[in-house]
Formats: sequence, structure tokens, C-alpha cells
Amino acid sequence: MAAKPITIAISGAAGQLGYNLGFRLAARSWSDNTIRLQLLELPGKMKELEGVAMELHDGAFDFLESVDITDNPLTAFEDANVVVLVGAHPRTVGMERADLLTANGRIFAAHGRAINEAAAEDVHVLVGGNPVNTNALVVAAHAPRVSPNRINALLRLDHNRATYQLAERAGAPVNSVKRITIWGNHSRTAYPDIFHAEVGGQPAAEFAADRKWLAGEFIPTVANRGAEILAARGNSSQGSAAQAILDHLRDWFTGTTANDWTSVGLYSHGEYGVPEGLIFGFPVTSGGSDWSIVEDLDLNQFSRTRIDASITELVDERAQVSALGLI
Ligand code: LMR
Repeated sequence: MAAKPITIAISGAAGQLGYNLGFRLAARSWSDNTIRLQLLELPGKMKELEGVAMELHDGAFDFLESVDITDNPLTAFEDANVVVLVGAHPRTVGMERADLLTANGRIFAAHGRAINEAAAEDVHVLVGGNPVNTNALVVAAHAPRVSPNRINALLRLDHNRATYQLAERAGAPVNSVKRITIWGNHSRTAYPDIFHAEVGGQPAAEFAADRKWLAGEFIPTVANRGAEILAARGNSSQGSAAQAILDHLRDWFTGTTANDWTSVGLYSHGEYGVPEGLIFGFPVTSGGSDWSIVEDLDLNQFSRTRIDASITELVDERAQVSALGLI
């Protein structure tokens, strides 16, 4: 019997990231199910979205069953099994991601309400519009029907960046790097932790021991990468962000590999001293349907200090959206 089609909704689908993502999802790299794409855009961008749909049709993708376009969030999210929220004001040069809290918070509140009303019972939501952690918190506040574990913030982009940087330093292929964790916020306080990482089956201890490289190069490179790309391209990351979304969804639905984990912005129940209710980057595994936080990792003082800085920042962002009446 043919596998049931998966309905995937994408907000901001005519934007650069949405455009990239539609084609990658249509090219099927994470399941055998056919997909139905439900693409959402602002009323003023419907013409562009028509063009995107035409191109998706022209790809004649084997696994793409249908493409529907709309400017109505309720229609876009109707019966959706996956909702990817990338429709948001992007940051421009000189801004921090948190500067977008007010403008984007309202969008995510409205999308949370529409998901709550219209999406499928098993909906999985991934927030890729910045600031991702706190926008996911806003979505969760407006979608009480959806289990908070199924409303994630995209930390996979930082995870992939850290994987590349460590592989380069070690002179090893990227697929030999395992067990990296991105703790915290997708911001300058994101903490890429390699104290439990492995390269080619060996502990990455020698790289972690090089504190000059770790604190002076590796961590700032990963944490500031988005701003560097923005400065270089004049536009924020789109190709790598689309790849990160695909990696996140693939691991969520097909499971993480043995002896490895990934990083997800996930609802905290108090794990590792992270206040309950924050959406925080954690090391997680998936068996193919839901995330489990990796437990009992030892955290040294170097890691604890950085994780605490990200907690402080996210508590502050939560207070800001609360003051705006968004949660
Ligand atoms: C990134 O990390 O590249 C994205 O979140 C875009 C941005 O504004 O940094």
C-alpha cells in the first residue's frame, strides 16, 4: 500500500528561504511519502508565489503530489502534518535577531492561532524565522492544542556550522564529526559544545583543550556566522538555512543515527537547569517521531557559564514578548 501523503505548509514561501526549501522538499530527501505543499504568502506577494508554484510544477517531481497557494494562514495550515514557519521580517546589517521580536512576534502569534485551529492532529511545527527560539514560544502560546515538544526552533543551522568548523580544524570529513551540541538561543549566545563530540570515533578532547581556538575562534565563528553571511551577501543565509531545515525534518521523521545526536530548540521541562517553558537548544535524539533530550551529560564550568548566559538572554526575550502581550 502506498505511504500516506504528507502535507507540508510553508509560510513566506515566495521569499528566498521558502523558495529554496520548496524545491528541496519536493526533491524528497527524507521519506518515501509523496508530499502536498501548501504555500502561504502575504497578499501583495501572490503573483510571485504563483511563479514559485509554476516552477515547482515544471520540476515534474515524482513525489510532489500537489502545490496549493494562498494568502490565508487557515487555508495554508489546514490538515498540515508539518508547518515550516519561515515567513518573517529578515534582519538587516547591524541588527541583532532579537531586534525583530516586536515585528515578527505578531506574525507568529497569528500563525500559532491558525495552526491551532486548522492543522492536523499530529502537526509538527518548525520555526525558522528570527528570533527563532522566542518566536517558537509565541507560537506555542497560541497553539495550546499542539504538544509543546512538537513546536521546535531551528538550531540545526548552528549545529551544521559547528560541525563544519570542527571538521575543518581536524582535517577530517564532516560526516566523521558526531555529538556536537548547540545549547541555548540562536543568537550570539548560542554555545557550540564540543566537550562530548567525537571526530572519527575519537573524543574531540584535544580540540576542546585548545582554549585559545575554542573560545577565540570556534565559538565566535559559529555564533556570528549569520551576521558574517549577511555582511558578505547583503542578504541572510538561505541555502544553508534550507539545508538545515531539511536535516532537522529528516532526523525528526526518520530518526537520528546511533551514537550521535542533533541540536533542536525544544521546550524545556527544566532539563540542565534551563527554566521550564523556554524553547532552548538541547542535544536530542529521535526514534522517528519525537525528540528526547540526551540526559546526564557532564557540564564543566566553561560550558555552564555559556549556557547560563543564553538562559539569561532567553528569559529576557520571554519578558519582552510577555510585555507586548504576545504570550
Ligand atoms: C542565520 O543564522 O544565518 C539566520 O538566522 C539569519 C540571520 O539573521 O542570522
